[in-house]
Amino acid sequence: MIMKRIIIAIDGPAASGKSTAAKLLAQKLRYIYLDTGAMYRACAVAAKRAGIDILDQTALVELLSKIDVKVLFTEAGNVIHLNDEDVSQAIREPDISNLASAISAQKVVREKMVQLQREMGRNGGVVLDGRDIGTVVFPNAELKFFLVAPLEVRAQRRFLELQSKGHQPVFEQVLQEMRKRDAADSSRDLAPLVAAEDAIHVDSKDYSIEEMVEVLYRHYHKLVEAGC
Ligand code: CDP
Repeated sequence: MIMKRIIIAIDGPAASGKSTAAKLLAQKLRYIYLDTGAMYRACAVAAKRAGIDILDQTALVELLSKIDVKVLFTEAGNVIHLNDEDVSQAIREPDISNLASAISAQKVVREKMVQLQREMGRNGGVVLDGRDIGTVVFPNAELKFFLVAPLEVRAQRRFLELQSKGHQPVFEQVLQEMRKRDAADSSRDLAPLVAAEDAIHVDSKDYSIEEMVEVLYRHYHKLVEAGC
């Protein structure tokens, strides 16, 4: 039997476990995994390097015309190229999170990134994670999840992640920044972080990573069995 290769959208706030779950679910299904946040992060790296004010529309439009953001799909996950340079590490620097959030609120940026995301996902067989996948990028995705977890749990995950990369984070600061970024992502006019009406809500604090992937997989399986 030939299985239909569907589009799976995973949205949710920072460090809710989207990326890990999306990547592992994609591996299990032999689907492509696309980390859309990484694309906004690459734009933020470009803006920082160019030293532009991201509220300056003219400068932003000019910057966008000069940059090429590419996502390479490898066994290990997504490799992000900015004008053919691998920026997969640079996009994870702590100051890039806030800049990515700010730049992603700009219409011209979203238009360009959403177009690329639709091109990469249009044939199906893809798991995308982000903030607006089930609402804006692929509102017709066959399967949508909205992943959540309490702020403290998410901040603790990001704190440990930063420590493991050799940074010396202060927990209170990580927590405050995450709170601010969630509020900015949720309250912006354009493609705010909001669950699609037909999204399945999952709280990642209730599960280990393996359990979490199993939960998502079961939903996928049920859908496919029902002949989606
Ligand atoms: O990994 P983390 O959850 O901290 O963030 P991310 O998924 O890499 O996204 C970084 C920022 O990009 C977010 O704070 C959002 O403002 C923005 N973003 C977005 O607007 N739309 C998406 N589809 C993905 C990310």
